[in-house]
Amino acid sequence: MRIVILTGAGISAESGLGTFRDKDGLWTKYDLNEVATPEGFAKNPQLVTDFYNARRANCASAQPNAAHHALARLEAALPGQVTLITQNVDDLHQRAGSRNVIQMHGALMSALCAGCGHRWPAPPAMALTDRCPACGQARARPDVVWFGEIPYHMEAIAEAVETCTHFAAIGTSGQVYPAAGLAAEARRNGAQCTELNLEPSEISRVFQHRRYGPASEVVPAWVDSLLD
Ligand code: APR
Repeated sequence: MRIVILTGAGISAESGLGTFRDKDGLWTKYDLNEVATPEGFAKNPQLVTDFYNARRANCASAQPNAAHHALARLEAALPGQVTLITQNVDDLHQRAGSRNVIQMHGALMSALCAGCGHRWPAPPAMALTDRCPACGQARARPDVVWFGEIPYHMEAIAEAVETCTHFAAIGTSGQVYPAAGLAAEARRNGAQCTELNLEPSEISRVFQHRRYGPASEVVPAWVDSLLD
């Protein structure tokens, strides 16, 4: 088995991190154009820095839930056979023990120098005066992929999706590309595709199999079914 898993905000919802497009979702409280685009950062870098500092603090105080732990258990049980691609910028997969994690939208716990491209562990609260450890410029930004920017690791993602035998999407509404197109790509390559979500997503028709309910319940059950 070569399993590719794509996770979205729904897998971290029960850890208290909320989602983007549900009722009370992040994008119902903030204008994503102001806080999640390069233009927004150029216009008001302090607002954007504060926004990600708040999300980083929430993430630091959150705990992985049973879904994160189940995926770590799956990877440990099938060494080298599980690739975990996440749209999430939290570090809950890593803190649950997952090793082979591709963060295609970047990471809250990482800082990026907009001047030289150097990355370093983000402090709990980033400031506009932070200097890049490599080049010394004060051009630090969250190492997060904003709307209009290219997601990270797309070649590795394409390679994994083209060669997988099983693909699962967990806790994603399937509204943001290229992530939302990966299931159809896997299906085209002959993979068995499963959607695990609270409710049907925009791309549910792509999947041969579906499991609906809270991730903390449906993901451990799905992992058990794979390992039995
Ligand atoms: N268990 C499982 N699924 C859940 C749960 C839960 N407890 N709670 C919510 N969900 C589902 C919702 O039904 C929804 O389909 O999680 C999904 C969350 O969808 P979004 O809020 O759109 O999050 P996501 O799909 O990850 O967004 C993709 O959009 O804003 C950008 O970069 C951001 O990575 C993000 C991307």
